[in-house]
Amino acid sequence: MGTCYRVLMWEKCALPENQLEDWAAQRRELLARMRDAGIKGSRGLLGQLEKELYSLTVKKIELPLTQTPRAAFSFARAEALAQALKADSAVLAYRLGTASAEVLMELQGDDDMASAQTRWQEATPGMEWCSTPIVQAMSAAEGAAWQEACRCSEEEADTPEYTSGDFHHVTVLLNEAVEALQPAEGKVLVDATLGGGGHTERLLQAGAEVWGIDQDPAARAAAKARLAAYGDRLHVIAGNFRNAVEMLRKRGVQQVDGLLADIGISSPQVDCAERGFSFLHEGPLDMRMNPSAPRSAADIVNTAPEAEIADILWQYGEERASRAIARRIVQERAKAPITTTTQLASIIAAVLPRKGKQHPATRSFQALRIAVNDELGALDELLQSGLSLLKSGGRFAVITFHSLEDRAVKRYFEHVCKPEIDRPEWPAPRPNPAYAARQVYRKPLTPAEAELTANPRSRSAKLRVIEKL
Ligand SMILES: C[S@@+](CC[C@H](N)C(=O)[O-])C[C@H]1O[C@@H](n2cnc3c(N)ncnc32)[C@H](O)[C@@H]1O
Repeated sequence: MGTCYRVLMWEKCALPENQLEDWAAQRRELLARMRDAGIKGSRGLLGQLEKELYSLTVKKIELPLTQTPRAAFSFARAEALAQALKADSAVLAYRLGTASAEVLMELQGDDDMASAQTRWQEATPGMEWCSTPIVQAMSAAEGAAWQEACRCSEEEADTPEYTSGDFHHVTVLLNEAVEALQPAEGKVLVDATLGGGGHTERLLQAGAEVWGIDQDPAARAAAKARLAAYGDRLHVIAGNFRNAVEMLRKRGVQQVDGLLADIGISSPQVDCAERGFSFLHEGPLDMRMNPSAPRSAADIVNTAPEAEIADILWQYGEERASRAIARRIVQERAKAPITTTTQLASIIAAVLPRKGKQHPATRSFQALRIAVNDELGALDELLQSGLSLLKSGGRFAVITFHSLEDRAVKRYFEHVCKPEIDRPEWPAPRPNPAYAARQVYRKPLTPAEAELTANPRSRSAKLRVIEKL
């Protein structure tokens, strides 16, 4: 890595103009004094002024930016920016704040800072960036340290204030998933959705070593308490399974014998009013599985444009009245912010009278939850990277609970299990470069009658399993 730059930019509305002017005036003065000190060769004074400049920027810009309310940053724009940064070859790492972005970049060839900023600006239409981002040159070593810090912040630190409490989740397709993973002594397995530890417990009982990942601190606390007896055969990782490969490699785990993902939310997440997932319980409109994630359902409902809300309801909830509901949400939020689950449920119910058993808000709540947690995006990243973690003969098992998830798993598994691909325009089928696995079951496994009776929440579960060649 050569010289790199840390660029800090923010949305114009995030910092008041007068604060910026104040900062710019003091900065100009400090820079003039630094120039004089440089001319006189006064290195001590120069160092002191550099420090003053740094703390001025922290005080006037960086700290206020960390205090910008969450609702300030539209999630669609943040997504668009993240996509653009990910795709930009000059970008080594980045961190998104509520209304700001810090980017570590290395300029190559003809590329320059202004063109890079233009690219990011173009990727976020409708977003007004500050006109003078803060650019700080970094040595290769500083850059590498910053990159490492970014990587670590993708994982959350474990949150000590969460206790195991009363965490009750009935594990779905327990026997089927455990059988599919063939746990045994000497095997190393990953449970990418540790939850209350129901699947993991059986894997540990069979003698395997398990790496359990969960983004919910309450789930991790519950699983740790429940599985304490297994000592160091269980390793709990706080983070999103979309980063499973990096998180495990960082801990020295290159390949494992099996990977399980029991996608979706756990019963305690739905049942705890404070988490804001359910319209049946009055609670804050939150829905974040990871409580320190940047955007909640309230952020989307109160700040996203009407068309974006309608798209979310349609795409993730297949809600036919998506447009009418989005329109009503926008009308209501103009009168007062929508902050609770029951407030949103009654807004939806006013648009969509109840028909049959299902509450009219069911589909919209599902859609918002999927959007808040970027559930399909995370699943997609896990699917794309999961096979690379497996040894030959290792199994990849995924349990899903609705058709959008199942469709993604089905398509991906079918794709990697096809030795050849054919297209009408090709004279003959061609080898499939992604071919790497075989289907373990011809059809997905679903809960048996006894499980359905004992746990009605399992009714839509499907388990698909592939084995790496
Ligand atoms: C259905 S529960 C798993 C239950 C678990 N198999 C058991 O038997 O107790 C799903 C868990 O996955 C977690 N989860 C969902 N999406 C995640 C993601 N992208 N990264 C990490 N954890 C995730 C949720 O927080 C939840 O605790």
